[in-house]
Amino acid sequence: MKKLIDQLEKDKKLSKQEWIELISSPYEEISEYVFEKARKQRMAYYGNDVYMRGLIEFSNYCKNDCLYCGIRRSNRYASRYRLSLDQILQSCKMGYDLGFRTFVLQGGEDPYFTDDRIVAIASAIKSSFPDCALTLSIGEKPLESYQTYFDAGADRYLLSHETANKAHYEKLHPPGMSYDHRMQCIWNLKRIGFETGTGFMVGSPGQTVECLADDMMFLTALKPHMVGIGPYIPHHETPFADQMAGTLEMTLLMIAFIRLALPYALIPATTALGTISPLGREKGMMAGANVVMPNLSPKEVREKYLLYDDKICTGDEAAECRYCIERRMNSVGYQIKVHRGDCKVV
Ligand code: SAM
Ligand code: FES
Repeated sequence: MKKLIDQLEKDKKLSKQEWIELISSPYEEISEYVFEKARKQRMAYYGNDVYMRGLIEFSNYCKNDCLYCGIRRSNRYASRYRLSLDQILQSCKMGYDLGFRTFVLQGGEDPYFTDDRIVAIASAIKSSFPDCALTLSIGEKPLESYQTYFDAGADRYLLSHETANKAHYEKLHPPGMSYDHRMQCIWNLKRIGFETGTGFMVGSPGQTVECLADDMMFLTALKPHMVGIGPYIPHHETPFADQMAGTLEMTLLMIAFIRLALPYALIPATTALGTISPLGREKGMMAGANVVMPNLSPKEVREKYLLYDDKICTGDEAAECRYCIERRMNSVGYQIKVHRGDCKVV
């Protein structure tokens, strides 16, 4: 198996069959070998630096009904909220004072936030904080809308593909949602010129090794700037409430594989990783991740943006999260950087 890892490190790709073989390897047999190689690549591109993004969860209304997601339309028990432009700008101001130079605006697919409103928010953030990067993560939109956001100054866009296996995608989403449309959106974002992020959940219901191999094939074809992966975690008010969560081990291996396939990539150690294991984000760094996304949302709404059960950091102030993350990163030998944290190359 070490031969396949060496080949991946050298060629930055594998065939689907080779991916299946590699992903099926026992954790104990390959983890140390692959993590060390992943750290070497991370070091070559980013040194010990950790890029920090401030996550502002600005709406938990969603018109979609993804079967895994706690803020899905059908969850009647979710207490819905939207942040005003003022609240969003206040969160940015607090973040700026704490050293954030990237803001990630994430929300459900909320029809209240029309293109005009998104453009107004993006323009206000960019004119108030011209040295900061703005990332949007607001789901599937027409090409023209993406272009409008880009023209208004949004620099980056995150749209997770969730799974690159069409049959699996259809198990995770209701009939109204389309795999082909989602993929088209991701390619459109890249074409427009966004620093584009995608990703998937590890251990989502029905996921097989073949699905993960499809994810890796898709990533090596797309060559995104950023790849956000985290374990799937059940939410009690979804049809998947009784399903198992993804594992720490498989998530760490996938982080390391992504680092070897896309050595320049921005790879966050996600909140979901910190939720399934107390030291998950530190371990994510040791497996090749180089980004953290502490929560900047106002404290009073945090518990409402519950994508999955037991989400961490819902009771903390922005400043607590920011310094907690810094201590955690320092504890494993990494340093938070105060700058936009752009992707080095693609
Ligand atoms: N609406 C936007 C979108 O669809 O891209 C952004 C919000 S969406 C809730 C953000 C991400 O949360 C999804 O891409 C998904 O990967 C993740 N997510 C949702 N439910 C989850 C769960 N139960 N476990 C882990 N991650 C989950
Ligand atoms: Fe909101 Fe899936 S339920 S994006």
